[in-house]
Amino acid sequence: MERLQKIIAQAGIASRRKSEELILSGKVELNGEVVTELGTKADPDEDIITVNGRPIRSEKKIYVMLNKPKGVITSASDPEGRKIVSDYLKGIKERVYPVGRLDYDTEGLLLLTNDGEFAHLLTHPKHHVPKTYLATVKGVPHGTALDQLRKGIMLEDGMTHPAEVEYKDVDTDNKEAVIMITIHEGRNRQVRRMFEAINHPVTRLKRVSFGGLLLQNLKRGLYRHLTKEEINNLMQSAQSASVKSKNRK
Ligand code: URA
Repeated sequence: MERLQKIIAQAGIASRRKSEELILSGKVELNGEVVTELGTKADPDEDIITVNGRPIRSEKKIYVMLNKPKGVITSASDPEGRKIVSDYLKGIKERVYPVGRLDYDTEGLLLLTNDGEFAHLLTHPKHHVPKTYLATVKGVPHGTALDQLRKGIMLEDGMTHPAEVEYKDVDTDNKEAVIMITIHEGRNRQVRRMFEAINHPVTRLKRVSFGGLLLQNLKRGLYRHLTKEEINNLMQSAQSASVKSKNRK
């Protein structure tokens, strides 16, 4: 059961605020009865809801992953006119929203959906969904520096949770290294700040996995729909990550 204004907004008829106005002005009927009470709940799959006498259809749920290029912002619009992720979603009519965000300069796996519950489940801090990145960093960090990231390191906004970290590639001149890092949080610019804290700033960052879902060979700038199995696995990943973290406490 969901609040009527949320169902109307999700059906793409009006914003949440406008939907409330429609209810208050008596334009909305639930199973043949006018409803003017804002707290009223309904089941979008079972109940008949009309706005101005026309039944609403709840939008089909869609789930896609995009290989976001760098230099693109994870947002629905940009006042500065920079490229936004929806520029890469040609062919998708539904209004989808990113599940978490990637920095302007970060590339790789970005999930997008119009399923608010799914997005909430995967981004809620208590669910600790794993996210894996390939970070190219300046210089070659010592094993002891990587151990600090494994244990948890102090950032401005507190200690990080333990991360899984391994070398993927080391430049023979010791000028740079590629490190694979998995974090279970989603703080702002977290991976970049973790490497800054050990004095090896990130020069390139790519997310290669999210909740067990792999980017694999999806080409940069392209998207694909997730399979049913992938959607279920992601939901389970959020639930099992949250159980594991409870047991760790
Ligand atoms: N960590 C970062 O620093 N940037 C991202 O975009 C994602 C994780």
